[in-house]
Order: sequence, then C-alpha cells, then structure tokens
Amino acid sequence: MKVLVTGGAGYVGTSLIPQLLDAGHHVRVLDNLMAGGDQLLPFFSRPHFEFIKGDIRNPDDVKAAVRGQDAVAHLAAIVGYPACRKDPVLAEQVNVTGTRNLAQALSRQQLVIFGSTGSNYGAVEDICTEETPLNPLSLYGQTKTIAEAHLLEHCSAVAFRFATAFGLSPRLRLDLLVNDFTYKAVTQQYLVVYEAHFMRTFIHVRDMGRAFLLALDNADQMLRQVYNVGSDVMNYSKRDVCDLVQKQVDCYVHYAEIGEDADKRNYVVSYDKIGRLGYQTAVTLEEGISELVKGFQVLDFKTPYSNV
Ligand SMILES: NC(=O)c1ccc[n+]([C@@H]2O[C@H](COP(=O)([O-])OP(=O)(O)OC[C@H]3O[C@@H](n4cnc5c(N)ncnc54)[C@H](O)[C@@H]3O)[C@@H](O)[C@H]2O)c1
Repeated sequence: MKVLVTGGAGYVGTSLIPQLLDAGHHVRVLDNLMAGGDQLLPFFSRPHFEFIKGDIRNPDDVKAAVRGQDAVAHLAAIVGYPACRKDPVLAEQVNVTGTRNLAQALSRQQLVIFGSTGSNYGAVEDICTEETPLNPLSLYGQTKTIAEAHLLEHCSAVAFRFATAFGLSPRLRLDLLVNDFTYKAVTQQYLVVYEAHFMRTFIHVRDMGRAFLLALDNADQMLRQVYNVGSDVMNYSKRDVCDLVQKQVDCYVHYAEIGEDADKRNYVVSYDKIGRLGYQTAVTLEEGISELVKGFQVLDFKTPYSNV
C-alpha cells in the first residue's frame, strides 16, 4: 500500500518507517522538521521512500501529501504535556487544526490510523477500557481527544490510544517516563521521583509500529473503532519502573514526599480489545531499559524536557 506518515521524522515515525518499508509498503513522509531531519537520512536510499517538507497546518501541503495515498498514519503533533504547555497556541493549531486539515483532504476510500493516546483518560480509578469516559487533564490530552473524535466522525479512521512509549528510536525522546528515568540513572546516578504510586502503562516504540501494520492488514474489521494499544502486563507504578531500572543501573532513587508530578496521569488500562485481534506486544520493559542503557552509555543526548 501507499502510506503517508505525517510527523514521520519523529520518535514514533522514524521507528515505524522501516517497519512499513520492510513489509513492502511505499512510504511518504510529511513533516516540517521542527526538531531537525538528520534521523531520516538512512531512509533516502530506500526506493519506496519519499519525503515532503510541509506543514500539517497548511491545507495545500496536506492535500498534496495525501494525493494518491491508500492510508495515512497520522502522527504529526505537538507531543506531551510540557511541549503543549510551552506553546498552547501552536499545540492547538497543530493537533486540532492540522487534524481537521487532514480530515478535509481525505476521501472515504483513504484509511487514516490516528496516533492517539491514553492521556485522553486522565486519572481513572477503574481499569480503562475503550468505553471509559475521557477526562484529559492536560492540554496535550485535550487536543488529542478533540482530534480523535473529529477523525472518527469524518473519516475512515482507526484510533489507537497508545500507552506511554519507551525505547530507542532514531529520533529519541527523553521526556518519556522510562526513557527519562533510565537516562538520569545512567548519567547522574540518581533519580528524584514524585508520586511513586501513580500507575502508568507502557509500550515499546517498535510495538507501536506493529499496531499500524495490524491496522493496514485488518482495516475492514477495525474501521471507525478505538483501540487501547499496549499490554496488560505492562501497567506499572513509577516505583516498579525505578525497581526495574535499578536492577540494571547502579543508582540512588529518592522518593520525594513533597512536590508533585505535573503529569497527573494515574491509570491502569485494559488491552483486551486489540488482544482479541491477535495483537501482542513483543518487547518487555526490561528489554527496553537494557537497550536504553546501552544507547545512553555511548551517546550524548540533549533535550529541553524531562519527566521528573
Ligand atoms: N511517544 C509516545 O509515548 C506516544 C504515546 C501516545 C501517542 N503518541 C502520538 O504519536 C505521535 C508521534 O509522537 P512522537 O513521540 O513521535 O512525537 P515527536 O514529537 O517525536 O514527533 C512529532 C513529529 O511531528 C512533526 N510536526 C510537528 N508539528 C508539525 C507540523 N505543523 N507539520 C508537520 N509536522 C509537524 C515534528 O516535526 C515531529 O517530527 C503523536 O501524535 C503523539 O501524540 C505518542
């Protein structure tokens, strides 16, 4: 199939692109390269890879990018609560208006698979299923919730509410909880953790890519539906994550009694629905931490955001 990946230069996109190419798909990326584009260089030698530098906020760029495509993996966004909080106007324009531009440009024959998020749930006491009322606590979650509803109403869409990603990708993000904790453990040998009992849910970035492949292969039965994407065995408290990091890295963890995590998410998610389609994650948290430790030992990453 011909697959457009919006935001393909990002953390998830650069992990997804080789998975799509290896599965025989043609890949076109639309990205404005707001965080640079070096990470795309390895893909230009692949004959079925094409890049368009453009902006999801510009309807003409979006129309040109979707032309001739069978499906779209919609990833372009201002991602995470710190980035959205820093520039709320941009977050709204990219996450909401950009998604509306995409919906407007697509025909009903074109499939769109939306990279939505478990942030839409907020803090929930019961186990979250796809029917749990949405209560996003951050601007990030609010914009993603609006975008998800718009695509489901106006397009041939599948929405994936992903767990929090972890693991190495060509465009690494350190504001993600597991990546951030492991980075600090390796580079500073200590961690300060607030609200250690808060429950979070995780997925390796390559397993996110495997979900997009599943939707391309099973679009007929997945259409117009929402799926939580992750694993029932990867609902962990922040303290659990620290314990797993400490098994691999010699570091001190301070569980702070005073202070709070600005990311208020505290939830456990059920992944039964996507599991019934045969989807299972392949990479454990232990394996992801191991690859991160190796990566952090040799590379010097810079990031404006962190998780603690
Ligand atoms: N990483 C996670 O844990 C996670 C979890 C759930 C959902 N998601 C979703 O997956 C998607 C990708 O996330 P990511 O982690 O790769 O983020 P990222 O920030 O690494 O990538 C986002 C990409 O979008 C591009 N972009 C931003 N504004 C744009 C614009 N105006 N026009 C065109 N491109 C633009 C950026 O240049 C970047 O390449 C997002 O939609 C995010 O909400 C991510």
